[in-house]
Amino acid sequence: MIRVENLGKSYAGQWVVDLPELELPRGGLTAIIGPNGAGKSTLLSMIARLQSPDRGVVTLDGQDILRIPGDTLARRLTVLRQDNAMAARLTVSDLVGFGRYPYSKGRLTGEDHAKIEESLALVELQPYRHRFLDELSGGQRQRAFIAMVLAQDTEYALFDEPLNSLDIRHAVSVMQLLRRAAEELGKTVVTVLHDLNFAARHSDRIIAMKNGQLQFAGPPHQVIRTVALRDLYGIDLNVSRTDGKLMVDIYG
Ligand SMILES: Nc1ncnc2c1ncn2[C@@H]1O[C@H](COP(=O)(O)OP(=O)(O)O)[C@@H](O)[C@H]1O
Ligand SMILES: [Mg+2]
Repeated sequence: MIRVENLGKSYAGQWVVDLPELELPRGGLTAIIGPNGAGKSTLLSMIARLQSPDRGVVTLDGQDILRIPGDTLARRLTVLRQDNAMAARLTVSDLVGFGRYPYSKGRLTGEDHAKIEESLALVELQPYRHRFLDELSGGQRQRAFIAMVLAQDTEYALFDEPLNSLDIRHAVSVMQLLRRAAEELGKTVVTVLHDLNFAARHSDRIIAMKNGQLQFAGPPHQVIRTVALRDLYGIDLNVSRTDGKLMVDIYG
């Protein structure tokens, strides 16, 4: 379980994350929703120890993440960042191979190569394995980064807007991949999503953030509600339910 206590990050005297208490239970898929600037990325960065909080603690299965050695943490938890600045002159295989670094320390074994292949196959990028990252489309590059995270094979996998730049088919396939990672491989998947219908359809629980704070949390049918979402985003929308399936209609 990931637990956040009294967690805060501030810029220019303003709290951009201000969470007295938040629990992300083990297993399943948790979606984090909320408008731009809500603090979603900052929260994930602090959980993954990429950014230090100004107050509070994050614990992983009861242990303060600051006390977990770097290589141990990298085998238990990883994050796909929203902005992946990476050397363009790197091939897809090299990138995915980085995901194995916590295990191989740079010297890839047969098992590492097998994991790399498996991850490339999951995102359907085998034909592109020798391409440089700057020779890919935005969506292909995004899938290469997702493969890197999958190759790291951690129990906790955090994704920040993983569906960015993906076409509908690949968005669905990545969503199913995350679902399978949670269901079949028993991983704990936490992902920031903007598509409310994907969040409604594929997650076990949803956390809604706004202005650095927790607005509401719960299973999709408790969170995906007309009034709650109108309030969260400040736009006109409507939630309906057909055959038990939630549908969000957004009026522009
Ligand atoms: N390095 C920074 N300096 C100043 N403000 C920042 C910095 N990083 C993030 N912020 C601000 O923190 C708030 C939360 O950002 P972020 O966590 O990226 O939101 P989200 O991912 O929900 O869109 C935003 O208002 C953003 O402008
Ligand atoms: Mg963000």
